Amino acid sequence: MSHYPALRMRRRRSASWMRAMLTEHRLHPSDFIWPLFVCEGEGEEQPISALRGVHRYSIDRLVEKVRQAKEAGIPCIALFPNTPEDKRHEEEALDPDNLICRAVRAVKDKVPDIGVMTDVALDPYTPHGHDGVLAEDGSVDNDRTVELLARQAVVQAEAGADIVAPSDMMDGRIGAIRDALEEAGHPNVAIMAYSAKYASSLYGPFREAVGSSDRLKGDKKGYQMNPANGGEALAEVELDMDEGADFVMVKPGLLYLDVVARTVDAFDIPVFAYMTSGEYAMIEEAAAAGAGDRDAMLMEALTAFKRAGATGILSYHALEMARRLG
Ligand code: PBG
Repeated sequence: MSHYPALRMRRRRSASWMRAMLTEHRLHPSDFIWPLFVCEGEGEEQPISALRGVHRYSIDRLVEKVRQAKEAGIPCIALFPNTPEDKRHEEEALDPDNLICRAVRAVKDKVPDIGVMTDVALDPYTPHGHDGVLAEDGSVDNDRTVELLARQAVVQAEAGADIVAPSDMMDGRIGAIRDALEEAGHPNVAIMAYSAKYASSLYGPFREAVGSSDRLKGDKKGYQMNPANGGEALAEVELDMDEGADFVMVKPGLLYLDVVARTVDAFDIPVFAYMTSGEYAMIEEAAAAGAGDRDAMLMEALTAFKRAGATGILSYHALEMARRLG
């Protein structure tokens, strides 16, 4: 009997051509959805201090960025508004001329054939920074919020959104939005449900970007999921599928790859994952502190989403990565 190992796994890693041949998962520009922040004005490109390298763009600049995304092979962008101070009230979300609707119309007009996704939630509008309207007791009123969200989704669809993405975590909102879209004559507008959205500590830089951080009173634990729960995510996904979600999302992504993998295993539906603002900052700040090779860390982190089985990744690094990969 030989004392040699029957199978030497290292044989498979012995040359770069061998490693290339045996690679199981590869990123591609079409894996990315690029979240972009929009602000009022012209020629604006405002840095976001907690998100090194990310900016808010006025609509004219946004259109240029979306054109670059299209050229780099990114299939879809996601838009988030920084609502002006004097417009921080719920009705603003329903105004067909609000910032987000104007941005959608401009992008659809100027950059054909790229998907546009909009965020359905009230936090960029509410004076208190919560994702819905408040009940007497200070909690978010589920059913009144759902009514508003359904109207908000229709307003966004009317502006030209291809995908509406409810990120609010109210119960029953997917069904209500689906019905409202059908009734308003938008059967082809898709719903990306933020199905498993956690009450995470990793949204801080995003809240700075949309200007809700100083406003937010309390936390979102009464509607977003408990980070300690995995199985509950499957129940959320199943409900959203039953109510008509076209795709589902797990958010945050990097710290929740177990949830991504379980969802992929359990259901036949496209599963997206959001590498959130805090996860972006983890890599950028670690790299800035000299903790590792930024490009390598980024590639490794984003490839992990593919290994977990995600169909696509929402990432602030999308344009850079699409260019690197293209
Ligand atoms: C709110 C919303 C949040 C994010 C996307 N939509 C923040 C929150 O729930 O407070 C976070 C995205 C990120 O951190 O990158 N509707």
